[in-house]
Amino acid sequence: MCGIVGYVGCKEATPVLINTLKKLEYRGYDSAGIAVMNDDEILVRKAKGALKVLEEMVVKEVIKGSIGIGHTRWATHGEPSDINAHPHTNVSGSIAIVHNGIVENYAKLKEQLQAQGIVFKSQTDTEVIAHLVNFFYEQTNDIFEAVKLALKKLEGSYALGVICKDYPDRIIAARKDSPLIVGLGKGENFIASDVPAVLEYTREVYFLDQKELAVVYSDHVDLFTEDGEKIIKEPFHVDWDMASAEKGGYAHFMLKEIYEQPKALRDTLHPRLVLEGNKPVDIKFDEMDFSSIFKNVERIIITACGTAYHAGVAARYIFEEFARVPVVVDVASEFRYRNPIISNKDVVIIISQSGETADTLAALRLAKEAGAQVVAITNCVGSTASREADKVIYTWAGPEIAVASTKAYTTQLMCLCLLALKMAYSRNTISKPEYEKLLSSLNEVPEKVEQVLKDQSIVQKFASQNFNKSKVFYIGRLIDSASSLESALKLKEVSYMHSEAFAAGELKHGPIALIDTDTLVVGIATQKALYEKINSNMEEVKSRGAATLIIGQGDTSVFNGSADTVITVPETEGMFAAIVSIIPVQLFAYYCSVLKGNNPDKPRNLAKSVTVE
Ligand code: AGP
Ligand code: GLU
Repeated sequence: MCGIVGYVGCKEATPVLINTLKKLEYRGYDSAGIAVMNDDEILVRKAKGALKVLEEMVVKEVIKGSIGIGHTRWATHGEPSDINAHPHTNVSGSIAIVHNGIVENYAKLKEQLQAQGIVFKSQTDTEVIAHLVNFFYEQTNDIFEAVKLALKKLEGSYALGVICKDYPDRIIAARKDSPLIVGLGKGENFIASDVPAVLEYTREVYFLDQKELAVVYSDHVDLFTEDGEKIIKEPFHVDWDMASAEKGGYAHFMLKEIYEQPKALRDTLHPRLVLEGNKPVDIKFDEMDFSSIFKNVERIIITACGTAYHAGVAARYIFEEFARVPVVVDVASEFRYRNPIISNKDVVIIISQSGETADTLAALRLAKEAGAQVVAITNCVGSTASREADKVIYTWAGPEIAVASTKAYTTQLMCLCLLALKMAYSRNTISKPEYEKLLSSLNEVPEKVEQVLKDQSIVQKFASQNFNKSKVFYIGRLIDSASSLESALKLKEVSYMHSEAFAAGELKHGPIALIDTDTLVVGIATQKALYEKINSNMEEVKSRGAATLIIGQGDTSVFNGSADTVITVPETEGMFAAIVSIIPVQLFAYYCSVLKGNNPDKPRNLAKSVTVE
């Protein structure tokens, strides 16, 4: 999920690899490593932590050689550690690889390789690729063939760089669902997961397409399809500056991360789906066995902060609807001080992107002391939350750089949906056909998010008409009231506009007194049975002068009279619609921020990770 680089040329590879890796640091990482072809052996250096730890290591003990590969890792399988850092090698060390992405079927492949007597050194999914390439290399005696055959066995995503001691003049590279470019220099060539890595050396690049392979030499590059047929393509001339290249051409990380959501959702969902043909029929959590939890649970307590808390509020509806287990949700900073009643029949779910939020960790420890089983949902492998919880489910969103959480939130919702469905099925509160139908709907969610992102011009226009409103209220019913909370927080954080969320039915109990012509009311409406009710609420505020927007799904014609603008998102199963309907409000917050001249990536007074009380 982070960065890979590679160099073939006549310079010393090590400084080039370190330099190119530095250009990828903005993507976030937890460890780094390089492998360099040194005479007739491959030397690997890798270390947990900042790139400078690796840099100091290679300054102290120089490795010579002009071909090499490098990596910054964002752990998905196995904690951040020296051993788990890439590159990984086959047993003899004659083949080294770097990999970005997730090998979804690694457990099965690992078992097969272990049965052949291979001893794994790391806990990563990636290491299977090194042994698999070796397996095919022993059969074919051709490294390109070996990589090609190994790739056919992999499910999931990869950007890959491979070097082999017997081929000291080339790097083999390949990609599927993770980006990879080839940089074309003079007498030297590069691979990198992103353009900024190579900009100092060249502006001519090939963007590898899905499942393409490249064999990169110092004086030329050959491109192939997954079946080994040669491809001819024109290099692309990059004329972006460094800053926009870092953001992949997007103006800000927040926007980039909003657009990364389809991929982040797929990465979080797909490895957990058990398929029959193309049809999802079950959920598996490779990381953990949840059966004991599902059997004994009498109550679920969810606790978290900020956006993660809002994911918890939404999850209450999801768990209660499907698994019929009562759910209590509380902000962690309250939970920890209110002497909560917790028993060993409770499952406590803590949600934290960083896994380091002080209040959330305090809540986790309190729950454990009280004898509850604790499940952590986090984006950071090796974080304190992941180490201290009894069970962990990772959001595989990749690093989130913008302070305002977007892809972490939707992937948290995805994990919570998966957990709720698995729990429901295990507890027989949904039947097999219902389970399969719900899994199919969930499987369509990333594509629906993609569809919303394809046409966001209506949101942009709406933001340009409303960013000067003095107050913005979000209203919704049931799970939409959770989305309203998150929407109001997002807008506050990046646009500094005064925004609040209300359960729509509460308006008339007070907040309606605030409505005037300088107010925007956004109704989130994904619960069809309540469309009439929320329409009445919209009528009430419109007749008092508010500007109105509805974000709805399916047939939204009922709102034609009450909403100035209606944004219709693709129709989605009621409980999963929260993942789709949040996209326009994330974009709205982003555009308001930019229109106000703010930096949405670094809102004033906020930090990405709140590790103090
Ligand atoms: C999200 O946009 C916020 N910046 C913030 O509310 C955040 O969600 C909260 O601090 C919790 O962080 P965590 O998920 O890392 O625990
Ligand atoms: N899944 C791999 C690992 O955990 C690669 C992670 C990455 O893309 O950095 O090592």
